[in-house]
Amino acid sequence: MCRNDDDNFLDLYTQYDMNARLMENIRSRGTPANNQTKMRKNTLRVGIKVVFLLSFAVLSFYLGWHAVPRSAAKRERAIPYKAPAASPTAASLSNNGRLPLQIDKCRENSTTRKPTPTHSRPRPRPRIILATTNKAFLDFTENWIESLKRCNVRDHVTIIAEDPSTYEILAKRHDINLELLLTSKTNLPDSDLAFGSQDYLRLVNKRPNYILRYLQRGTDVLFSDVDTVWLKNPLPFFEGGYDLYFGRDIYDDQTKPDLVCAGFVYYRATKATTDLIVKWIQRIHARPEIPDQQLLNHLLRNRTIRNTLKLKYLDQRQFPNGNDYFNVEWREKHANIEPIVVHNNWIKGHDIKIERFKNASMWYL
Ligand SMILES: *[C@@H]1O[C@H](CO)[C@@H](O)[C@H](O)[C@H]1NC(C)=O
Ligand SMILES: *[C@@H]1O[C@H](CO)[C@@H](O)[C@H](O)[C@H]1NC(C)=O
Ligand SMILES: *[C@@H]1O[C@H](CO)[C@@H](O)[C@H](O)[C@H]1NC(C)=O
Repeated sequence: MCRNDDDNFLDLYTQYDMNARLMENIRSRGTPANNQTKMRKNTLRVGIKVVFLLSFAVLSFYLGWHAVPRSAAKRERAIPYKAPAASPTAASLSNNGRLPLQIDKCRENSTTRKPTPTHSRPRPRPRIILATTNKAFLDFTENWIESLKRCNVRDHVTIIAEDPSTYEILAKRHDINLELLLTSKTNLPDSDLAFGSQDYLRLVNKRPNYILRYLQRGTDVLFSDVDTVWLKNPLPFFEGGYDLYFGRDIYDDQTKPDLVCAGFVYYRATKATTDLIVKWIQRIHARPEIPDQQLLNHLLRNRTIRNTLKLKYLDQRQFPNGNDYFNVEWREKHANIEPIVVHNNWIKGHDIKIERFKNASMWYL
């Protein structure tokens, strides 16, 4: 439709594949007849994949590959990262010429993947830690990176920079294994992006597009706002086979469902998760003026949708929001519980946010 809308929807380096896939997803929700043909086609495709995998398994058995012990790390290195070739606006670099992202084609459709006889041990799930940023959030981003380093998270961190200067500054860092991506749209003001402003909204409303791109490759995504501080590595908390793990925004109110915070979510690359994100993007497209988090919560209130998902709400004492954590009484009440990730939300304004971090000794710059 109108160009601006399209820009808002897909103004990314991801256009090359996401566009096609997303549109296919949207179209496939069309007529039932259409769906049937589609299902038949899919069954055929899955059949071909299974035959291929089985032949590969038998072949590798004969070649004795199964007998060679290989560490997960080696296997990861063996699969080279391919930058999105058909994407002219994408700039994908890694600091050390090494990219941490593992792309495992076999996991693209995790619901249909069958274990092959050669895999005696479960393979580690490919996953990334994803954040978006721009010059208005650069100091928060650097503080966030510092907190990751302090809890020894140095790999698989992907940051999407929304302007070239932020990109260049972050690209100079060699103390952490960053994958940096630069998006094409850069018309952001130099000034402080007020949290909750239109520009801020534009920034955060693109989150699901980035997330979907990784999920469709079978890569789990831990999305984190950069106004969080990680006190301990949160990755061990995302076990148990849930589709989504949420930080909470509001809770403890028995009469209302939990409101999730889109600023700290672990998305497991399952079909159910991907379907939810596609719906979420459709909603954002329809109502770009509404914050993405609100639209996500709205989707999750729909029982039909919620029943397709295995949701895990993170313990608010371990993953506190800013309203709680920076409240001295709350902190004293829960002093026996070790916080893992603290979100400096529930406050507007760049400087006051920093002051709050400083007050809690969480400003490391
Ligand atoms: C995954 O498999 C299911 C079940 O066969 C199918 O309906 C779905 O379209 C597949 N998804 C993709 C992305 O191939
Ligand atoms: C809930 O979601 C389902 C599936 O997308 C949809 O058909 C239904 O209309 C939704 N219900 C409400 C109340 O929005
Ligand atoms: C930081 O601490 C000072 C001194 O206790 C206090 O006056 C101020 O309101 C605090 N700032 C924030 C943002 O909480």
